Amino acid sequence: MGMMTEERDEFRPIEWLTSGKVRFLDQTLLPADEAWVETDDYRVVADAIRRLQVRGAPLIGISAAYGLALAARSIDEADVPAFRSRLRKAAEELAATRPTAINLQWAIDRILRLIEDMTEIGQMRDAIVADARRIHDEDVRANRTMAEHGAALLEKGGAALTHCNAGALATGGYGTALGVLRKGWEQGAVTQVYATETRPLLQGARLTVWELQRAGIPVTLITDTATGSVIKRGLVSEVVVGADRIVANGDVANKIGTYQLAVLAREHDIPFYIAAPTSTIDLSIANGDAIPIEERSPEEVTNVKGVATAPSRTEAANPAFDVTPARYIAAIVTERGVARAPYEESISALFQDKVETRG
Ligand code: MRU
Repeated sequence: MGMMTEERDEFRPIEWLTSGKVRFLDQTLLPADEAWVETDDYRVVADAIRRLQVRGAPLIGISAAYGLALAARSIDEADVPAFRSRLRKAAEELAATRPTAINLQWAIDRILRLIEDMTEIGQMRDAIVADARRIHDEDVRANRTMAEHGAALLEKGGAALTHCNAGALATGGYGTALGVLRKGWEQGAVTQVYATETRPLLQGARLTVWELQRAGIPVTLITDTATGSVIKRGLVSEVVVGADRIVANGDVANKIGTYQLAVLAREHDIPFYIAAPTSTIDLSIANGDAIPIEERSPEEVTNVKGVATAPSRTEAANPAFDVTPARYIAAIVTERGVARAPYEESISALFQDKVETRG
């Protein structure tokens, strides 16, 4: 029960309200404004995922689950096959919002599987709402366990570098990579965090710095282009980042710019860690080449907050993610334990253990 209380006290960027609505923090407005959106319309949630009002792999999955719960409550069909077909349409709409983070499809599949054999609409509605809330609670719990596993790996008294935002704002609460760093700071292992800006949408500057300041953890913001110099000068003991999709051989998709950090970490002989829940693991893909990479609007690169920073008609490429090959990764920290190379074996073992401990 102590754990539950702790979880509930935690800042959560989204919540299910007893009124049957969802409330989420609009992350596009941070750090200037802390504005919450309340809705009972799943299409508002789908749009929020697309526009990055809610973002970060685990939070995208949780939001889609709540979106499906809103859809189930609003579909007014009395006929089971008609209800199912409209629910499936809502699920497809939610699944199509962003392509890279596997947590989105994972959450939707889990809910659809749960109601597969149910025959009553009321029962399905209740089950979907309950499971969406469970997915949320499980994520926060996973983050806290992951933080313990991850903090144990950190060098005592060092500074860590992180990229993008893998904190409470990217999850159900507490955070993945930032959860590890929070725990490391509490235990005295991490003395300081370097946060990259994370162009083009500045999740590091806007969100990670906001979170770490609120937590009272010393944070230094650097541009993405300063990372090589900061690491070369020996200012960083390790790099810890999150993930959008981890595949069977241990290759990892994460925010654009992650790959170059992994290469730098190798060059300068410091460990590069991934922290992510097992809901981010996609065993259906053998290696990173097959991960779909979201290509976002060129305007995000040619403009900063609506102000042009390049000549008009500039052609810009804007891949939102890159893939870090497993060979650069010192360890993948999950709530079920720490996986190390060879990853084919260690990642599949995470799932075998689950079956055993549940039995
Ligand atoms: O485009 P975003 O902001 O959704 O990208 C987020 C990231 O790349 C995070 O590092 C990743 O989702 C892990 S979040 C715990």
